[in-house]
Amino acid sequence: PGLHSLFVASGKLFFGTATDTNLFNDIPYMTIANNSNEFGIRVPENSQKWQPTEPTENKFVFANPDQVALTSKANRQLLRCHTLTWHSQLPEFVQTTNWTRATLTAAIQTHISNVVGHFKGQCYSWDVVNEALNENGTFRNDVFFQVLGTDFIPISFAAAAAADPAAKLYYNDFNLETSRAKADGAARIVQLLQDAKVRIDGLGFQAHLDVGRTPNQTALAATLDRFTALGLEVAYTELDIAHAKLPATATALQQQARDYVSVVGSCLAVARCVGVVVWEFTDKYSWIPSTFPGKGDACLFDANFTRKPAYSSVSSFLAAA
Ligand code: G3I
Repeated sequence: PGLHSLFVASGKLFFGTATDTNLFNDIPYMTIANNSNEFGIRVPENSQKWQPTEPTENKFVFANPDQVALTSKANRQLLRCHTLTWHSQLPEFVQTTNWTRATLTAAIQTHISNVVGHFKGQCYSWDVVNEALNENGTFRNDVFFQVLGTDFIPISFAAAAAADPAAKLYYNDFNLETSRAKADGAARIVQLLQDAKVRIDGLGFQAHLDVGRTPNQTALAATLDRFTALGLEVAYTELDIAHAKLPATATALQQQARDYVSVVGSCLAVARCVGVVVWEFTDKYSWIPSTFPGKGDACLFDANFTRKPAYSSVSSFLAAA
C-alpha cells in the first residue's frame, strides 16, 4: 500500500519526502517520489531557500521550486515549504550589507512577503524560522540575531502570516529530540511568539538521528507532547537515521529499522503529530556523506532503490497499527 497510505489509514495527514529538481531526470527515483501512496507530501530540499529564491536583493527566482510545486500537484501530494529565515544558504547581500534594525527588518519582510506570496495557497506549511538555536538552547549568533536580537522571530512569523493566512507556520530545528536544553530553547521561542500574539502553528522536529542513539518511542513522544501542550501541532520534518560506520552490518540495519519504528511510532502515539517527512528516501541522494564523511546510509531505500529493513519494519508496524 505504501507508507503514506498506511499512515493516513492510521489517522495521520502525511508521510513524505524531501526532493528537488536536480534529481528530476532520474527516472527510477522519480517513479518512487511521484508515488502518492508512498509519499503524500514533498518538500523542496534546497530550491525554496533564501539564496536560490532571492540571489540578488529584490530579484526573485522561482523556476525550480515552481517545478517542485507542480509535480506535487500533478501527483496529488501536499507541499511543505522550506525555509524563510535561516542562517545558512543566504545570498551574499544578506551576509555583507551593513544592516540597521530598520533595513534588515525591511529585507526580511520583503523576502517573506514575496516568497510566501508567490506560493500562497500551495503550501500546507512554511518553516518560517529554521535552526535559530545553539545546542545549549541559547540563540545562534547569526546576522539576524546580531542586528535584531530575538525580534527577527516575530518579524518573520508576522510577515508569513500576512502573506499566506492559510499556511501553517512552523519553527523547525534539529536535535530537539535528543537535547533537553535545545528543546527548552524552542519552548522559549514558542512562548515569545505567543506573548507577542504572533501566530505559530507548529513545531518541526528535523530528526537527523543516529543508529543506536535514537531515543525510544516513549521518550520521543514525551518531547512531542511538550509542544502540543503549548497548543501546537508537531511533525517530523527531515527524518534520517545515519550509520556511524559503513558498510552497515546486518545487525546495524536491524537497529536502524527499530529506530525508524520508534520515531514513526511516537508520531502515531501523539494525536497532534500530523506526519513524517524523510530527508530524501534513498541513500543515493542523502546529504549526510558529503557533510559527515564516513557516515550515512540513513534512508529507507538503498542507493539502488531497494527497500531496506527500516522500510519493511515501518511498513509492517503501520499495517499492524
Ligand atoms: O547549487 C550548487 C551547485 O550549483 C554547485 O555546483 C554545487 C557544488 O558544490 O553546490 C550546489 O549547492 C549545494 C546545494 O546543497 C544544492 O545541491 C551546496 O553546496 C550544499 O551545501 C547544499 O547542501 C544542502 C544543505 O541543506 C545546505 O545547508 C543539502 O543538500 C540539504 O539537504 C541540506 O538540508 C538541510 C535543511 O535545509 C535544514 N536542516 C538540515 C538539513 C541538512 O543539512
